[in-house]
Amino acid sequence: MIKRLKSGIPGFDEISGGGIPKGQIILLSGAPGTGKTTMCTQYVYEGLKSHNENGIFLSFEETSESIRKTSAEFGWNFEEFERMNKFSFVKYDPYHVEEIFDLLESKIRDTGAHRVVIDSISALGLYVRDKAELRRMIFNLSTILRNLDCTTLMVSEIVPGTKGISRHGVEEFVADGVVVLYYERNNLAFNRAVQVWKMKSSNHSNKLHPYKITENGVKINPAEEAYFKE
Ligand SMILES: Nc1ncnc2c1ncn2[C@@H]1O[C@H](COP(=O)(O)OP(=O)(O)OP(=O)(O)O)[C@@H](O)[C@H]1O
Ligand SMILES: [Mg+2]
Repeated sequence: MIKRLKSGIPGFDEISGGGIPKGQIILLSGAPGTGKTTMCTQYVYEGLKSHNENGIFLSFEETSESIRKTSAEFGWNFEEFERMNKFSFVKYDPYHVEEIFDLLESKIRDTGAHRVVIDSISALGLYVRDKAELRRMIFNLSTILRNLDCTTLMVSEIVPGTKGISRHGVEEFVADGVVVLYYERNNLAFNRAVQVWKMKSSNHSNKLHPYKITENGVKINPAEEAYFKE
């Protein structure tokens, strides 16, 4: 039986067939503001707080200071874990594209991290314009993560109004699982819903489930189905 990690996101373990399969790379796709960063911080914080699993958060856009601040609003305090070298933020530097994965690897080894977040993999496409090169880099990244036995949430951005589950159409090719976050209009209100699109070795739900972003983070309702008008 494959080991599964508790996500720390209420409802997520129920819809994914028992949690995030150990060692897999899960793509988390959604439009701006759908809660991708929140879910990722929830996931690493759960590891630190409740499972003695260390973590790394690689951020391409937001500064570590900004993520630290918003996380503290939700009640997740990373600083004590940073001091104990159980957790580290890695900020991407656009002038050293090629070096980022070496840096990530050494940080993972240094902290003994098991839970890893990449926020976002789509941002890499802004610096690496060639699709083949971008694919090669994402593949190299996945090799590093698999060799180090990390379980990874990899964020992918969806441009609102477009089809597909990623911005560049290549982000999903290394993923063992894909989770899509929707933000759609139903009459007058916008509703949030999540779907496990695919997840290797998992008897996951194939329904759309409503979720909320609350003062305690993302909460999924696994017992309900969400409907969007065509
Ligand atoms: N305390 C809170 N209570 C309710 N909702 C909140 C709270 N804090 C943030 N939100 C919601 O979360 C959204 C931001 O979530 P988050 O930054 O995780 O999204 P994201 O998908 O990472 O966005 P981006 O693509 O811009 O990086 C806000 O737009 C807001 O709707
Ligand atoms: Mg974000």
